[in-house]
Amino acid sequence: HRLLLEELPDAQVLVVSNREPYIHNRSAGEITLQIPASGLVAALEPVMRACGGTWIAHGSGSADRDTVDAADRLRVPPGEPTYLLRRVWLSEKEQSGYYYGLANEGLWPLCHIAFVRPTFREEDWVQYRKVNEQFADVIVEEATCDDPIVLVQDYHFALLPRMIRDRLPKATVIAFWHIPWPNAETFGICPWRREIIDGLLGSTILGFHTQFHCNNFLEAADRFMESRIDREHASVTFRGQETLIRPYPISIEWPPAALVDQAPVRECRDAVRRRFSLPADARIAVGIERFDYTKGILDRIRAIDDLLRCHPEWIGRLVFIQAAAPTRSKLATYSSLQGEAERLVADVNARHGKGDFQPIRLVVRHHEPDEVLELFRASDMCIVSSLHDGMNLVAKEFVAARDDEHGVLILSSFAGASRELSEALIVNPYDTHGMAEAFVRALQMPPAEQRDRMRLMRDLVRERNVYRWAAQMLLDAARLRRRQRIVWSN
Ligand code: F6P
Repeated sequence: HRLLLEELPDAQVLVVSNREPYIHNRSAGEITLQIPASGLVAALEPVMRACGGTWIAHGSGSADRDTVDAADRLRVPPGEPTYLLRRVWLSEKEQSGYYYGLANEGLWPLCHIAFVRPTFREEDWVQYRKVNEQFADVIVEEATCDDPIVLVQDYHFALLPRMIRDRLPKATVIAFWHIPWPNAETFGICPWRREIIDGLLGSTILGFHTQFHCNNFLEAADRFMESRIDREHASVTFRGQETLIRPYPISIEWPPAALVDQAPVRECRDAVRRRFSLPADARIAVGIERFDYTKGILDRIRAIDDLLRCHPEWIGRLVFIQAAAPTRSKLATYSSLQGEAERLVADVNARHGKGDFQPIRLVVRHHEPDEVLELFRASDMCIVSSLHDGMNLVAKEFVAARDDEHGVLILSSFAGASRELSEALIVNPYDTHGMAEAFVRALQMPPAEQRDRMRLMRDLVRERNVYRWAAQMLLDAARLRRRQRIVWSN
């Protein structure tokens, strides 16, 4: 933080994302505040709180318009404001084409290996371009100088870096792609592959979570664009401008702000046991995320089923709590996933339930950060079985929540986080029986081994926290900006 302020004394920092950090909703005549379930928000919000600046995002809450000033701005966080939130309004048509259509039916399945076919519609592409233009105009409105540092977030804004470059040629643009980038052959099925890569190459720096995804991008730029690729320095030169392609593994705030108000682990366990009417000796496994088909929720439920079938001694002694936040529910792939999960849970509970005891509890609703932390702290193991994931911050949040140094993390080898958290039990979510055996191993793991593993993971997340993620990107940007200023001044 200090380093950043020294390096960027006069820089204006603008963040652009689809999802806003604070959502205001109206229910029963009252305005309520919601913090969305979003890895992107979890990572960037503490950085903005510390550094200040302006965050530009889509205003999605039913009371969002009632809380902004005439310029659609709001000082946040509520209560102790340190930065500005500028809300951008979208029509239903725009939201449907840009967010649900192109971003979530096109790019999301294109970039994640989950075997869901991407859908590309011309009309969605029109809306996507239009919304990117709209955000580019808002960036110009919010810029207080001609060379701000703009952090463009995610696959909703692939065209934005180029649009910013056209409007503010001196801006330092860092684009960060929060999801995987597929191999060139896969990416090549996108009808607008060239436009998307061109848009991203408007950035000064383009970041991914892993080196693997950087390599995939370089391969795509090489294959589809008439560009110069410098593999040694990991850069692409296109239209006379160089873009650095860099890995910046995202992380979380350390220590998590909500941890300060948390009860001791024992009290969290008692509270969760009471809430779910669990026997005093029941072991608890948790899964917490958005209800997304990339998260492998069905796969982990099948693995619990397998575990109880092969090790019936755990029936009545193990409960798996799955907290799932509804997400993108207007899309059939998402609504049908929920139906399928409910049927599967009913099935497993019918097979292995004992009296009043049901081994799986599926709670479909939004959970606030303090509830999530309580569940993490109450559990014996946390299951992150993503079929594919850029990073996955749930894994890091679980580790951060366990200041008692206990609990076992089960982590998919297909989540970026598995490159860093190697002391987790690493699993293949497609291998149901293998995953079930990992659960058994977790349940039987001696406390000393749990502690040793947890300590190593906590050391890593403490050190590679989100401030470091942001600092590395911003310091790289500041260096390039200084160099660029010399060029401009000549
Ligand atoms: O991390 C990927 C991501 O799409 C983020 O961009 C987003 O904040 C999060 O998942 C949640 O998705 P959504 O914003 O569509 O609810």
